Amino acid sequence: MAKRIIIVGAGTMGQSIGRLFGQHGWTVQAVDPTEAARDGFLATVPGSSATAALEDAGQADVALECVPENLALKRKVLAALEGVVPEGAPILSNTSGLTLEEMSADMARPERAVITHFFNPGDVIPAVEVVADKDAREGLCEEVMTLLRGLERRPVRLDHAPPGFVANRIQHAIMRECLHLVDQGVASPAEIDEIVQWSVGVRMALSGPFRQRDLNGLGTHLSIAEYLYPDLCDRHDPSPTLANLVGQGHLGKRSGKGFYDWPAGEDARAAEEALRRVIALARDSAD
Ligand SMILES: NC(=O)c1ccc[n+]([C@@H]2O[C@H](COP(=O)([O-])OP(=O)(O)OC[C@H]3O[C@@H](n4cnc5c(N)ncnc54)[C@H](O)[C@@H]3O)[C@@H](O)[C@H]2O)c1
Repeated sequence: MAKRIIIVGAGTMGQSIGRLFGQHGWTVQAVDPTEAARDGFLATVPGSSATAALEDAGQADVALECVPENLALKRKVLAALEGVVPEGAPILSNTSGLTLEEMSADMARPERAVITHFFNPGDVIPAVEVVADKDAREGLCEEVMTLLRGLERRPVRLDHAPPGFVANRIQHAIMRECLHLVDQGVASPAEIDEIVQWSVGVRMALSGPFRQRDLNGLGTHLSIAEYLYPDLCDRHDPSPTLANLVGQGHLGKRSGKGFYDWPAGEDARAAEEALRRVIALARDSAD
């Protein structure tokens, strides 16, 4: 019989992770109080079902929370999920950076909780950061890693998980410098996109930063690091350029304007398909 997952929070991440499980033969059920989110889930996860309340969801082999990044809410949802999966079964959180210790505080058996940080879209991007507490049930983390590999993901377990884990720390370090260059008038967003996409970007798509630096030569990297680091951005608050855009309601594609203008009706699927082709190429070159 097909295994069953309950996904609480049927928004952006819940939908794409739901598709991933559905494509691998799981029975998928979403729980979300918002009708539009449930409708979106049912439309994009074929064969799924959706309810407004967890009490109506029944039982599952695995449960995953994808609710907004709000500690009180995550805490409440993780504790409620203990009742819908068998004792000892994994209860997963897709938090972007909250700690397990904080989120599992209201659980009777916090040793069942594991962070599985998927990337958007969860059915396209292969990596998943996995964080289990030192008190996790023995074997639980390996069980979750096996489950993720069965979904054709590339999970990496982090024994120590600082805020933002690994990927968000790196993404934010890159964006802090990009925004600093804009704020300093060195280059426009479009110019930075052109330079980064066709230099660091294409390299990074095909190898990790360390493998790439080995290819280029570590001596050169050290020489540049010695004079460059004192000049790099180290501000502790987000760039005013970013804060102003968000303050004016310019949130990027979803609001029609961000660093660029985004006309309505542009097909997000085309970008996803391009991403899948790059991932296939990266997989080929890694094999
Ligand atoms: N969007 C991303 O790129 C991304 C990437 C990785 C991780 N995450 C993390 O994934 C989580 C979800 O993010 P998202 O972008 O999918 O958010 P989202 O706002 O698109 O979706 C969240 C959904 O949760 C629902 N919800 C709110 N309260 C609920 C409750 N009590 N019970 C059930 N559902 C409830 C909302 O109605 C909404 O549909 C967050 O922790 C976020 O940090 C997001």
